[in-house]
Amino acid sequence: MSILKILYFPNKLLKKKASLVSKIDRDINKIINDMFETMYISKGIGLAATQVSINKCIIVIDISKKHNQQLVLINPKIIKRTGKIIMEESCLSIPNISAPVIRSEKIILQSLNYYGKLFELQAESLLSVCIQHEIDHLNGLLFIDRLSLSKKNYIRNIINHNLY
Ligand code: NI
Repeated sequence: MSILKILYFPNKLLKKKASLVSKIDRDINKIINDMFETMYISKGIGLAATQVSINKCIIVIDISKKHNQQLVLINPKIIKRTGKIIMEESCLSIPNISAPVIRSEKIILQSLNYYGKLFELQAESLLSVCIQHEIDHLNGLLFIDRLSLSKKNYIRNIINHNLY
């Protein structure tokens, strides 16, 4: 396995929309394994392929502390949303920044797994938020894009002046 290079905001590649995966083969499995390794070493709970310059609809998630609840999403699609939830979000592509974001509380999604098998998943609270955050990445969206323009500009200023 290898560690992949994570893109940081405001890299334009983060705005690119990912393509559907047409065939799940060894190359895709290697990408997934590398993404998990990259996510764990970066202390994240989710990573989208877009963040490591791979233009494919692939997401890895593990919200457990023990790193033993791996979730792989390939070509995920949310088919139902209910309720609203606000959680403080952060992102490996925007280090040291966090902000509350409004999302759907519960979701049902369809996705392919590591082996290419279609499955359906119901998620709520942290897992639901994490999945929605990562699917946003596949659509070229960051969590700060979901904030008010004034908050987004405020964060942009912090990043421009202090961190990079
Ligand atoms: Ni993120």
